[in-house]
Amino acid sequence: MSPPPSPLMLLPLLLLAAGSFAAGNAKATPPSAAAAAGAGAPAPVPTPWPEQFHAVVFTNLTESGGRLQLIDLYYDWPKGRNLNLIHSQLSGDPTYDVEWTNGTSYYFDSGSCRTVRFPVGLLPPDWLADGAVYLGREHVDGFDCHLWTKVDFIWYYEEVATGRPVRWNFFNGMQQHVMSFEVGRVLEDSKWQAPAYCFNGDTANVAAGGVDVMNSLMRFAGAPAAAIAASFDQ
Ligand SMILES: *[C@@H]1O[C@H](CO)[C@@H](O)[C@H](O)[C@H]1NC(C)=O
Ligand SMILES: *[C@@H]1O[C@H](CO)[C@@H](O)[C@H](O)[C@H]1NC(C)=O
Repeated sequence: MSPPPSPLMLLPLLLLAAGSFAAGNAKATPPSAAAAAGAGAPAPVPTPWPEQFHAVVFTNLTESGGRLQLIDLYYDWPKGRNLNLIHSQLSGDPTYDVEWTNGTSYYFDSGSCRTVRFPVGLLPPDWLADGAVYLGREHVDGFDCHLWTKVDFIWYYEEVATGRPVRWNFFNGMQQHVMSFEVGRVLEDSKWQAPAYCFNGDTANVAAGGVDVMNSLMRFAGAPAAAIAASFDQ
């Protein structure tokens, strides 16, 4: 079911590029590592993502030197694609980040485009299951949540009562809050098409695209835990 595993050679470069923010992480994401499951009880398993959904995600990048964004996220696993439609605060021109499962991403707005090639594909719906460590229950954004981390790369909060994602934080301080979550909602095909001006220029590899990489961190969350962990040993 999963896309074939891709080489993660570029991941260390990505993490290095974002590494200057890593020090602040402990503050941004305080896992209260409670042994909340209780002695002997099996740790809860993360609820897999639905194969298709639309979420509105409030994104706070101020901890990592950025601003606030409202993102329309369309996840479409059967069609091998993911869209972040990014509305930055006080900016009229949204940015499209169209991610394909073959590793190619198109970042464009009404006037410019960048094509970036990532060493990893799309997250499979069960991306969190492999290598996630359960940290217990936490009250976050007003919801009673289960909390998992994957090798201190991402902290993921899921509502206990419904299994819906509520929030996730990345190691570099980026915080994303799920404002709405519509299972099965898809975006029509024409909205995924990158404009003609995406196909004139060069394709950058991820290490060269530091700024763009921010909204694509989620791509890497599906990498095997060992590969992510190894990149921290650099
Ligand atoms: C954004 O994150 C910073 C750092 O954690 C926090 O101080 C601030 O209150 C947040 N802003 C919003 C609007 O959530
Ligand atoms: C990946 O798929 C997209 C969408 O079909 C396509 O535009 C792009 O050229 C493909 N990339 C590669 C490297 O084949």
